[in-house]
Amino acid sequence: MNKYFQELNRLPQSTTLTKMRELALNQKVPIIDDEGLVFLLFLVKTKKVRRILEIGTAIGFSAINMAMMGREIFIETLEKDESLYRQALENIEEAGLTSQITVIHADALLYKLENLDGDYDLIFIDAAKAQYQKFFTKYTPLLAKEGIVVTDNLLFHGLVNDKEKTMSKNTRHLVNKIDNYNHWLTNHPDFNTSFFALGDGMAVSQRREE
Ligand SMILES: C[S@@+](CC[C@H](N)C(=O)[O-])C[C@H]1O[C@@H](n2cnc3c(N)ncnc32)[C@H](O)[C@@H]1O
Repeated sequence: MNKYFQELNRLPQSTTLTKMRELALNQKVPIIDDEGLVFLLFLVKTKKVRRILEIGTAIGFSAINMAMMGREIFIETLEKDESLYRQALENIEEAGLTSQITVIHADALLYKLENLDGDYDLIFIDAAKAQYQKFFTKYTPLLAKEGIVVTDNLLFHGLVNDKEKTMSKNTRHLVNKIDNYNHWLTNHPDFNTSFFALGDGMAVSQRREE
């Protein structure tokens, strides 16, 4: 993010968050970037979001940031990697947010919907990019009437809008998957979606009014 704006944007600060940023950098754990985070927290505040479902916890960085927006915010977040799940639990405990954040160790593609509370004001999709369409289709029945779905990494380091840059076959496959998801989303009959060139590329989707 622009350094000048970075200083003006007062993102949540704590020793736990500082430690998590360092760990993510050193151990290459992908966490939301500052520009995406500013936007996500803006949505949480302005939409008066109370109940959040996150697909893809990693070490709990985005969940902790969202929970720090208010004591009335409750988050359920799914992580399939056991080591990351454990680190997220530790970080959430250290941040004093265990009463607001529930981390579920599960593969979101297999997890049973009936185990979740539902009626979410915000669903944040930030897990395996090749599976975005499946996550969206599976979890949107749990969205509250006026709720929103935020999807991250839709430009994938600027490769989705400039496919010529993609070298490896695997990356090209992933880039095509994300591109297909973006087009599927914009043509979705039940949702309106706006795309933002913020962070790594984000979309906000809301149910069309009947
Ligand atoms: C980009 S990271 C999440 C970052 C986190 N939201 C943040 O910004 O702090 C994506 C995470 O999704 C997890 N993941 C990938 N596929 C998953 C699945 N099917 N179910 C649950 N978690 C999954 C990965 O293990 C990884 O930790």
